[in-house]
Formats: sequence, C-alpha cells, structure tokens
Amino acid sequence: MSVNMKLSSERIRKLPPYLFAEIDRVKADAIARGKDIVDMGVGDPDLRPPDAVIEKLRQSTGKDGMHNYASYNGTPGLRTAFARWFKRRFNVELDPDKEVLPLLGTKEGIGHIYLGVTDPGDEILIPDPGYPVYMSGAILSGAIPVRYPLRQQNSFLPDMDELKSLCSPKTRMIWINYPSNPTTAVTTLDLFKEIVEFAEHMGILVCHDAAYSEIVFDGRRSPSILQVDGAKDVAIEFHSLSKTYCMPGWRVGFAVGNPSILSSLGRVKTNLDSGIFLPVQEASITALEECDAYVEENRKVFENRRNRFVGALKDAGFKLDSPPATFYVWMPVPDGFGSMDYTKYLLEKLGIVCTPGIGFGPAGEGFVRISLTVGDNLLEKAMDRIRGLREV
Ligand SMILES: Cc1ncc(COP(=O)(O)O)c(C=O)c1O
Repeated sequence: MSVNMKLSSERIRKLPPYLFAEIDRVKADAIARGKDIVDMGVGDPDLRPPDAVIEKLRQSTGKDGMHNYASYNGTPGLRTAFARWFKRRFNVELDPDKEVLPLLGTKEGIGHIYLGVTDPGDEILIPDPGYPVYMSGAILSGAIPVRYPLRQQNSFLPDMDELKSLCSPKTRMIWINYPSNPTTAVTTLDLFKEIVEFAEHMGILVCHDAAYSEIVFDGRRSPSILQVDGAKDVAIEFHSLSKTYCMPGWRVGFAVGNPSILSSLGRVKTNLDSGIFLPVQEASITALEECDAYVEENRKVFENRRNRFVGALKDAGFKLDSPPATFYVWMPVPDGFGSMDYTKYLLEKLGIVCTPGIGFGPAGEGFVRISLTVGDNLLEKAMDRIRGLREV
C-alpha cells in the first residue's frame, strides 16, 4: 500500500472523538472481570412492539410482490396513514403526497437533511446538550455546528436572546428537540411560536425532532411545532416509530412539514437509499392505525418505571426533579465528580452503566443520563444497588 494513500476523509477526521468509547472500554473490562452489569446506557426500548404489527409483518412477508425495491418516498398508504395519525394527534392536516416523507428511521433523515438544504460553511444552531447526530450530520456535510446551551435554571429551554446573539449572516438552520434527549424537558406551543417567529425574522429553517412526542408523563401532551400558524413556511418535524411503538430495529421514521424542504431531503434519499422494505411499511400502517391503546400502555410502563426509579434515587439521598418525559433520567452528579468520573464510579461501585452528560455536549457536563429501558428484574436490581449507596 502506498504510504500516501488516504484512508479517511477530512470530514471523518473532523468528527469529535467518540466519548462513549472510554465507557465501552471500562464496561468491557468490568464484564471480563465477571462483574454483574445492569446496562442503562443506551436508549433502546426493551418492550415488545404491538402483536398486530408483528403479525402483519409475518403475513406481508409471505405475499408476492413484497420483496422488490420500494420507492424512496414510501407507499401512498403509509404516507396517508401517517397524515391520519398526525391529524388525530395534533389536529393538523398534512398533504400525504407533499408534506409527509417516510424515512429509514429518524436518524437517517437527521443526518441527510444537511445534504438537502445546507452548503459547506453554513452555520447550524444545535442544542447543547443534544442528540449527537445533529452535530455529526453537520460536520459530515461541511456545515458548521454552533451550539446553544440548554441550562437547568431555564428548564432546559433555549434563551431566545442568546439564540439571536449566536446568529450570523451564515446561519441557515436551527435544531430543536422536545421532549428532549438527554434533558427530558418538555415545552409548550408558546416556545414553538417564538421559534417560528425567530426563524421567519432571521430567514432560517427549523428542524424539530419530536422522536419522543408520545412518551410524556403526568397527564401532559407534547405539542407539534406544525400547530403554530405559519410553521409550515419554515419548519419540518421528525417523528419515529422507534420510541412510540418500541420498533427501533425496524427503522421507520417520518419527516413532515414544509414541502420544499421535504422535496430537497427526498432528492438526497432518491440518490442514496431505496426505501423501506414493503412488509415493514404495511406493518407500520397497522401500528399507526390500530395501536393507539398500545402507545398509552407503554407510556404508562415508562411512567411507572420513572416513578419507582426516581423514588429509589431520592431514598438514596439524590436531589433531582422527576423527568417529565422520555425514558431517561437526567441526573446531576454529586459535587466533586465530573460526568465521566461519575459514570465510571457507578459502574465500578454498583455495576450500573449510564451515559456521561459530556457525551451530549459541553453543557451536559455535571449530569449523567440513565436509561429506563430495562425490564422489571433489572430495574429492581439497579434500584436495590442505588438504595445501598446510602449505607456506604
Ligand atoms: C432525540 C432523538 N432523535 C432521533 C433518534 C433516532 O431515532 P430513530 O430510531 O428513529 O432513528 C433518537 C434515538 O435515540 C433520539 O434520541
């Protein structure tokens, strides 16, 4: 091999170091030493998808004509089913042909949107802490991520004056995400109104990631940004079957809203993917049309886990607010610890794997994220160990 051969691009080299690699190493080491681990690191729902959905997949897979390439923008049936779900849930009309674009999971759309609507050097406002793909998608496409902090004292909502001060003539787009991963914060339509006004005023696009829209507790409901008048002029919103129907491996998500933005994203996809497996599309229609009760049942399961787990943390002397949404706990680390140190401490001391806040951006320092996507036995085991901390 020539010594001059280039084996990675400048883009790849610009990606931030994989902060979770250190945790993976410590975890692998603990397992090798025979430590009994409860892995609460990844947000991968453990519950079974609806039976009707699995059955539909089974039937569809056996049918002829189901194994060819699917069109990149989904079947009309799937787009219509999502538009109907959206109308039922948010009372917003979507044109299934122009305002709904199925995705191979939300992550795919989040990564690819940059190629559709930004140019190298464009600046993108992204939440800090936030889902890491907003950052990596920007870097991979040559756009420049500009972090805006979400602070606990502001309920993890953006400070609108600060957002304005971070804008430059090169600012092209803002990401928002409510319910928020990792902070678990929820918001109201008022913030979405302010964001839409801000975007119109600044001439920028809005991407709202609503992947956790259905996992909200204490009787609250999470709004859609498309409920704001005029939002479709500037915004698109991302939805996912991964969390709502516990179908993360199926890879089904949707982008909805501004038809021109969706058309640009669609053009990227036409060139890079060949659509969702047709039986998965049929089964997804079943999820969207027949499984509202399942969604409510799941929500209750996560709410119950939250109540029990936060109770155990409080029993052990931790001070934290109960997460209003998602299946995460965003927990301040005790004084004297960094988030990485505390993650290692919990792993060594209790065998509990969580995620250091710093992995979600500098403003995530001082927190760890614990994922409640483990079944009852493991949850109880983790809670017993946490309660034991009090005695140490
Ligand atoms: C905030 C957020 N958005 C999007 C995704 C991606 O979801 P999907 O499985 O639809 O790609 C995740 C997954 O963890 C997430 O936390």
